Amino acid sequence: MNKKLVSIMTLLLSLNAGLAWSKTDKAAVAMPDIYSADIAKQVLKNGGNAVDAAVASAFVLAVTYPEAGNLGGGGFMTLYTPNLQTSEKDTLAVHFLDYREKAPKAAHRDMYLDDKKEVIPYRSLVGYQASGVPGTVMGLWQAHQRFGSMSWQTLLQPAIQFAEQGFEVSDQLENRAKWFSKWIVNKSSEPLNFTEYFSGLKTGQVFKQPELANTLKRISTLGAQEFYTGKTAKLLVNKMQQNNGLITLDDLASYQAKWRDPIVGEWKGRKVVSAPPPSSGGIAIVQLLKMKELLSESFTAELVKAKHSGIPEQAVKAHFYAELEKRVYADRAHYLGDSDFIEVPVAQLISNDYLQQRVSQVLLDEISDSEKIQPGKIESPETTHFSILDAQGNAVSNTYTLNMPFGSGVVIDGAGFLMNDEMDDFSTKPGVANVFGVVGGKANEIAAEKRMLSSMSPTIVLKDNQVEMVVGTPGGSTIITSVFQTIVNVVEEGMNAQQAVDAPRVHHQLLPKDQIAYNPELPGLVKDELQSMGYTLKKNNYMGDVQLILKNENGWQAASDKRGEGVSYVFDTELVK
Ligand code: GLY
Repeated sequence: MNKKLVSIMTLLLSLNAGLAWSKTDKAAVAMPDIYSADIAKQVLKNGGNAVDAAVASAFVLAVTYPEAGNLGGGGFMTLYTPNLQTSEKDTLAVHFLDYREKAPKAAHRDMYLDDKKEVIPYRSLVGYQASGVPGTVMGLWQAHQRFGSMSWQTLLQPAIQFAEQGFEVSDQLENRAKWFSKWIVNKSSEPLNFTEYFSGLKTGQVFKQPELANTLKRISTLGAQEFYTGKTAKLLVNKMQQNNGLITLDDLASYQAKWRDPIVGEWKGRKVVSAPPPSSGGIAIVQLLKMKELLSESFTAELVKAKHSGIPEQAVKAHFYAELEKRVYADRAHYLGDSDFIEVPVAQLISNDYLQQRVSQVLLDEISDSEKIQPGKIESPETTHFSILDAQGNAVSNTYTLNMPFGSGVVIDGAGFLMNDEMDDFSTKPGVANVFGVVGGKANEIAAEKRMLSSMSPTIVLKDNQVEMVVGTPGGSTIITSVFQTIVNVVEEGMNAQQAVDAPRVHHQLLPKDQIAYNPELPGLVKDELQSMGYTLKKNNYMGDVQLILKNENGWQAASDKRGEGVSYVFDTELVK
């Protein structure tokens, strides 16, 4: 651990000296980097709850993981708070906080189309018009207001210190910043300032961010309102106004995070609690799990048949998942968008009757024609995720993002944080794919103050009203299938936490037609078999960075995906009297 981290921890400990401890119990964190992992652990050890740990580490990631941790983006938080209830009437104690970005008020349906109604390349992805109104600071504030137990200032202190005193740049950050600096060249008509702040980062270098430290100090002292109406808001709007950006002071002042009912799917004696619209994640994951269950007999028979013919089991599974996934992504494209703007038939989409109808056309031994998959009748991804479970059984599953690594490439001068390019998650034109290759239509068209459709899927699995899993991942449209496969790996394949997150994953999303993306470790024989069935294969070196906490009959486990630089701990903590 570096010296600065030690001094931050000493500071956190000293702020809590004098608390009396009554008993020890376990807690766990699975985080995308060492800094957030150490701070989350320390907050829990100091008697903070899962929400306190989430707030402190989300701000830390805004400093130490600038490619996705953020102040200028947005996200979702799924919570289970059986021991943090206030006077609210609430039997299951599951909550969902939507702090997704919103389209600025000046945004409109055709804003990324030229005179010929063609999409202007990169306009929704790079530069000033690519950003939605950021939600992260308001989201963390709302979570803290409702459930936090430690002071807001205490929880921001570690982030301030990392920004002020610096942290060591990792290989991953150096490589990503290098790649992004090249990728954005000539993609914006207005000048970008990403390289002024982030180019030339070298592994092992201590990287300080004084402007960001000052922004964090203002937010620490004055609360979330500072970001939305104070000096930070003015710096942000100045930058937008100088460069044809759309976000105004009025957009910022009227931004609200929103508590929504999470998706709760009943599956194998469990409750799968996940993200509702404007995410597609919860609906899609519950659809996948339930459809798999509905077809389990025929699927098992297919596996037995394949074994006799020497066909690798993983190839049969990959094809089976692709068949389910193409139906789920067809529904996503047609039905899903911001439920404040459109009617999303949530209950029908995850009902057994509807899913029974959907699986009736699944082909177990050949590829169904993607062009014929219609929505059912009644439809580099860079982001970051963390999972936290405190000693009292409260859990936070949080995914937040700038969209692309480093978002739009715009840093707010004087405030030191990157802006998102989340507008690309809208359907810029019906049928035109976004950066993740997924399409959409009317349900996800752009409108003022609307939230763009997401795949982020922070998920909590409950068994007997206790947390069994806290899970999520980055990965754009592959988030859904990664979370699905991780849950299946644990519950059906009997894997431990580390095996479940490290196992090779496959992904199909209807389009491109018959294409399966895969982690590089997928065995050659499996690939050969899929190709002989007619699939084209696409290697994806970075399909997810799953952070999983698992608590079952084998005890507590926490695991960070081997593909990222995450760190996870299970540790003893002490409960405050
Ligand atoms: N920006 C990726 C997502 O929200 O799905």
